[in-house]
Amino acid sequence: MNLQSWTPGRVNLIGEWIDFNGGTVLPASLPLGVEITLDPSPDNFDHVTSAQFPGKASAERDAPAQKHWADYVFGALQTARKQGWIKGAQTVRLDSTIPAGAGVSSSAAVTVGVLKACVPNGVDPTRIALLAQSVENEFIGVPCGIMDQMAVAHARPGEALALDTRALKFEQLAIPEGWTFAVINSGIERKLADGRYKERRDACLAAAKYLGIDYLCDAKDLSALPSNLHPIGQHVLSEDARSRAAIAALRRSDALAFGHQMLASHASLRKDFKVSTPEIDALVDDAVQLGAWGARITGAGFGGCIVVLLVDIKPAQWWADLHAAHPASRWICDVKAG
Ligand code: GLA
Repeated sequence: MNLQSWTPGRVNLIGEWIDFNGGTVLPASLPLGVEITLDPSPDNFDHVTSAQFPGKASAERDAPAQKHWADYVFGALQTARKQGWIKGAQTVRLDSTIPAGAGVSSSAAVTVGVLKACVPNGVDPTRIALLAQSVENEFIGVPCGIMDQMAVAHARPGEALALDTRALKFEQLAIPEGWTFAVINSGIERKLADGRYKERRDACLAAAKYLGIDYLCDAKDLSALPSNLHPIGQHVLSEDARSRAAIAALRRSDALAFGHQMLASHASLRKDFKVSTPEIDALVDDAVQLGAWGARITGAGFGGCIVVLLVDIKPAQWWADLHAAHPASRWICDVKAG
């Protein structure tokens, strides 16, 4: 008998680079996802095929990561076996509509999805999210926070997940009628494992250590920070405040205030945290010029997607105009009221 799951990707509406700094974030699930099917393997190897990539990847049951996209599956299978959820090696098939390398959590969807397929009924999705994060941190070697795994494990269509990343408490908030969040790929590919994620994360941890606190979001005064860490602290503190303000705006269906926080978030990611690119800045600017209420780079940055708030506007015409000005950009999907 085979095991199956479907898991969505996510877009982060606001609250960037604060999920390992004790902050509050606001991701939402995408209508795109990955379908995963597992069957017992005929040998002692895990085998993975994908409808989107040619060939087959195989690894011995307890082998270390191979720097291959299938590592997310191998790592999750090893974790599921350690938990006692499955016994032997597996043959796994993936079929995904989530674009890879675009910052919309295709990898978190795979790790959470494999674990979800293996898990016995009644296991808390937060536990699955934490195990999936440990696969990325320990097996793959990317020191990511918990936002993506929590988002894809918990988020429901038409809702955003207001998540306190420290307490792992969350609230599912309905996206107001009439709001459309468009997810647009800039066409600039990014990779989390290329070291820049770790570099930024280490700078945040260094800043917190400098101030003698566990979480940078708890800083009261940044003036003691050396000049290279000051902008990092400035982004983290202000982004946490913006994220909370945006959540309050979402609750009262105040699109103007929400869009304002998105724009301020982008400016901070560009100027202080320095994870945007000139092409993405131009895409964000034009998205707003053409009538969006807010726009920002989303996910870890260095390329990937922007998320845009459209209200009282026809998305198709808006997108046709934006695409004409930025031919490399691609429409990924939209997220709106359920
Ligand atoms: C990646 C990480 C997340 C988070 C974002 C930036 O998506 O996986 O944990 O840190 O970057 O907000």
